[in-house]
Amino acid sequence: MPSSVTGVIQDLERILLTPAQISERVDAMAARLNAELAGKVVTVVALMDGGLFFVADLLRRLEMPVRLYTLSASSYQGGTTTTGEVKVNWPANFDIRDQDVLLLDDILDTGLTLSAICERLLAQQPASLRTCVLLSKRRERLREVALDDAGFEIGDEFVVGYGMDYQGRFRNLPCIGILNPNPAS
Ligand code: IMP
Ligand code: MG
Repeated sequence: MPSSVTGVIQDLERILLTPAQISERVDAMAARLNAELAGKVVTVVALMDGGLFFVADLLRRLEMPVRLYTLSASSYQGGTTTTGEVKVNWPANFDIRDQDVLLLDDILDTGLTLSAICERLLAQQPASLRTCVLLSKRRERLREVALDDAGFEIGDEFVVGYGMDYQGRFRNLPCIGILNPNPAS
């Protein structure tokens, strides 16, 4: 690991998931999708920026033809608490009517983001909609979301790494960790 990354890892209270654990789980999630969606053309709707590495790793393991839309959604103004309001930048040409859609996000927390997006996706009448997240926080949801697969269930703690940030930092960590409340850097 480059020393710059090792330095950032010192900002973690502990490592929750190693790169090997993440990779093994993403393998299994992809295998399931390859079995369930075999023979289909899949339209992936991927939430950025937090889903960046999960989406990149999962998509490279999918065997069927794939189309990709990326959306930026945010329900955070910064810090570790949600604001409740979900902002989404929908591409001008966004059209998923009659398509088999796979919605991907990094983490399900309050459910506000994914439920708002699912509602908008379903309004376009896709042929099918599957929703998968890498992490699902064990907590009460403000909105229920029907998940088809979640890589890992985690506690109600703020995590960073593997695409996920705290105030714009830590996305480049190859592992997922709990942030140190008093980071050194
Ligand atoms: P929700 O709308 O509360 O379910 O939040 C979903 C979004 O908030 C996720 O897509 C993440 O981008 C972000 N988020 C929620 N929890 C965390 C966390 O622990 N670390 C980093 N980002 C998070
Ligand atoms: Mg996100």
